[in-house]
Amino acid sequence: MPGIDELFAQAKAAQARAYAPYSRFPVGAALRTASGAVFVGCNLENAAYPLGICAETSAIAAMISAGERRIAEILVLGPGPGRIAPCGACRQRIAEFGAGALVHLADARGEVETLALADLLPRAFGPDAFKGE
Ligand code: THU
Repeated sequence: MPGIDELFAQAKAAQARAYAPYSRFPVGAALRTASGAVFVGCNLENAAYPLGICAETSAIAAMISAGERRIAEILVLGPGPGRIAPCGACRQRIAEFGAGALVHLADARGEVETLALADLLPRAFGPDAFKGE
């Protein structure tokens, strides 16, 4: 299984490929699925600003496109010296495929703060809401 160091290295490589000419705020994400596969994402912006996509969302798209569905852990890395946390929309998207996931917030040196997704998004609305419909 890839460790956190591997997720950090892959997120950093993805961050270098970010398309963020408007915010100049490149973000990288790397997630590990239950099977051990790693998928990466970076943010990609658009001249029509609201169309931008976050790094976490593009990593999830890569995972789904490859036929995987369960996020075990995800690491996110911003451009500054400090840590960033996923935006609200990305927390909801992570919850869809990883309600029990761990979220690693990495600083520039690769030191991580690890949180449970459930702590970042308590009482999330999710697929379970449709059970027994
Ligand atoms: N962004 C991400 O990709 N992930 C986050 O967790 C926070 C923000 C992106 C969106 C936008 O392209 C840029 O960072 C500035 O908000």
